Amino acid sequence: MIKKCLFPAAGYGTRFLPATKATPKEMLPILTKPLIQYGVEEAANAGLTTMAIITGRGKRAIEDHFDRSYELEHQIQGSPKEKLMTQIRSIIATCTFSYTRQIEMKGLGHAILTGETLIGNEAFAVILADDLCDNDGDSVLSQMIEVYEKYQCSVVAVEEVPLDQTDKYGIISGNLVDETTDTYRVTGMVEKPDPKDAPSNMAIIGRYILTPDIFDILRETKPGKAGEIQITDALLEQAKKGKVIAYKFKGVRFDCGSIDGFVQATNYFYDKEKEKLA
Ligand code: UTP
Repeated sequence: MIKKCLFPAAGYGTRFLPATKATPKEMLPILTKPLIQYGVEEAANAGLTTMAIITGRGKRAIEDHFDRSYELEHQIQGSPKEKLMTQIRSIIATCTFSYTRQIEMKGLGHAILTGETLIGNEAFAVILADDLCDNDGDSVLSQMIEVYEKYQCSVVAVEEVPLDQTDKYGIISGNLVDETTDTYRVTGMVEKPDPKDAPSNMAIIGRYILTPDIFDILRETKPGKAGEIQITDALLEQAKKGKVIAYKFKGVRFDCGSIDGFVQATNYFYDKEKEKLA
């Protein structure tokens, strides 16, 4: 059973400078909720209650967000504003949070390896909070847990992207194993290929379920594209043994690490939530 969710949140978020100079990218809000809260809610909805967050210098606001704020709560006690705190209060009451710092930002693979101390020897989920997912039925992570339970190996969520955008993603090749659930056995994986070298247009998005042998693989993984330790390279080792399933998830995803995606997500959630915000 998957119990823990890892949130790599140590990146510099340079595309959002100067906003991210002193504020973590993961704390930028879509409407009134920071990105990372959406991710934590998705994990909690999938039944995961242990949140393991990889932070770095300048990211202390994340820890404060998932903690009580006595002075503020005292201030709004009994006022209509209290309802704005309902969701975050419920998260704090039902989930546990642990943190470790990535000292040098050597890439997503390295950030995940840094999380070994919080995860231990069990399969776990990974959410990149800047990929914001939404849908009306089961959350993307819940859908992936079902896939994991069937195949008992690592699972990556994939989406078809326009061919001219393959250089922004890890791209997979794979064989369809189940048409009804849109699952593929991954045979190859390339990090951010040029469209002409891309094995397909199926891009890995920021949701993974990883088996714990990934840590030993990551320890041996040399820096790849951009001099960073890439999770894609480590996953490829598992894929060579037939141990990675790609799942075409149901729902929408916004790349909130980019300005376009951030604005689209804001408009989408505004249209969806405006009555509740009033
Ligand atoms: P990104 O590729 O979006 O990088 O990382 P970034 O540094 O956050 O943003 P830009 O490109 O400078 O604007 C994907 C995810 O991996 C985490 C990030 O926090 C983000 O959630 N990450 C990346 C780490 O935790 N550590 C790293 O060394 C790199």
